Amino acid sequence: MPKPAPKTFAVKSFGCQMNVYDGERMAELMAAEGLSPADAADADLVVLNTCHIRERATEKVYSDIGRLRKHGDPMIAVAGCVAQAEGEEIFARAHVDVVVGPQAYHNLPRLVADAAAGRPALDTDMPVASKFGALPARRKVGPSAFLTVQEGCDKFCTYCVVPYTRGAEVSRAFAAIVDEAKALVDAGAKEITLLGQNVNAWADADGRGLDHLIRALDRIEGLARIRYTTSHPNDMTEGLIDAHAQVERLMPFLHLPVQSGSSRILKAMNRSHTRDSYLRVLDKVRAARPDIALSGDFIVGFPGETDADFEETLRLVDEVRYAQAFSFKYSPRPGTPAAEMADQIAPEVMDERLQRLQAAINRDQLAFNEASVGRHCPILIERKGKLPGQMLGKSPWLQSVHLITDARVGDMVEVTIESAGPNSVGGVERLRAAA
Ligand code: 5AD
Ligand code: SF4
Repeated sequence: MPKPAPKTFAVKSFGCQMNVYDGERMAELMAAEGLSPADAADADLVVLNTCHIRERATEKVYSDIGRLRKHGDPMIAVAGCVAQAEGEEIFARAHVDVVVGPQAYHNLPRLVADAAAGRPALDTDMPVASKFGALPARRKVGPSAFLTVQEGCDKFCTYCVVPYTRGAEVSRAFAAIVDEAKALVDAGAKEITLLGQNVNAWADADGRGLDHLIRALDRIEGLARIRYTTSHPNDMTEGLIDAHAQVERLMPFLHLPVQSGSSRILKAMNRSHTRDSYLRVLDKVRAARPDIALSGDFIVGFPGETDADFEETLRLVDEVRYAQAFSFKYSPRPGTPAAEMADQIAPEVMDERLQRLQAAINRDQLAFNEASVGRHCPILIERKGKLPGQMLGKSPWLQSVHLITDARVGDMVEVTIESAGPNSVGGVERLRAAA
């Protein structure tokens, strides 16, 4: 049964930061169409902006659809990477109204109108023309904003669905990005995080890389901080490493996934870097910016991973001393080469390896936070804390900082870090920068 055209909407994003960005853009698009934002529980239209990177992310979507159906009968649009990967199958497996892929969401208003008129509403095309030009301008954002500059991936790591769901590597045009950055700053952003599946593979038509873009954003008045994520070790150019030494507004933080400490497993993963080449990149980055906070991603239990391979991962962690890191159990993704490989690892082995790896990462995370006690640094206030008078913000090294202050969201506050826990640090205000 077709549903009436919706008057209210909610967007729920799962997974990575790019989905958060896409979710914001879809919300802006629906608001520009005259729909009002509402809670997912009572919205006429619920957009589930999905993630396909691991099994549980997909399962969450289907249970969310079930929950929404139990409590009402909203129009449901499935967007994001599950929409791209499953396409029409979603209609067969769950009762939804719209399926729209990550490169087609600028067509959401038309698809919603089609669904309301009882027409099939599916768009998983990856058009050559970018969706960005068809989206409304940025108007209101928080102090820390995301900006997608690059999408897709040509690396084809053997475990990963991204090259299939997000498509080939595409860089947005320099001028469009600078315009959006300026609009974000006008809309209230003090910090911009440049996003891409391989953000450091960004290049313009003349072959200039991400460092060129960062240097251009560095000239935008009112922008205090620049970050970028996620990077590939092979695309860490000299220019980008130099930018870490030279561009003050580029924050001292680098998320550089390694996935495994074993060169044998990295080869099977088709990572195109080795343990040593990865460590050499980190040496260069640390030489350019000695206080840089390092972050990474790890997969445990990739097919064929032996105890000895895993020990190499632990040794790499010991050597790097990450400020933070994410670790995951390998999840076979349909259609990827690794899903067909022999020697899939037993779940209990994965569990045990994940626990050991996370214990090592937590140890280093706490040590990093403890080592920052006594540091003076600016904090960008992002939101209220739980305690009266408490606010939360981020340090240059991306630590969550809590402090008692009468500063407001969006203020930059000079603090001294005074206490450290595994997931955050406590600060005391020194003086307030002029807003
Ligand atoms: N199984 C487990 N983790 C994965 N990742 C990507 N694909 C898989 C998979 N099939 C992890 C990688 C990547 C992060 C975003 O998700 O560590 O860097
Ligand atoms: Fe996936 Fe590898 Fe591309 Fe990262 S570099 S998105 S892990 S294929």
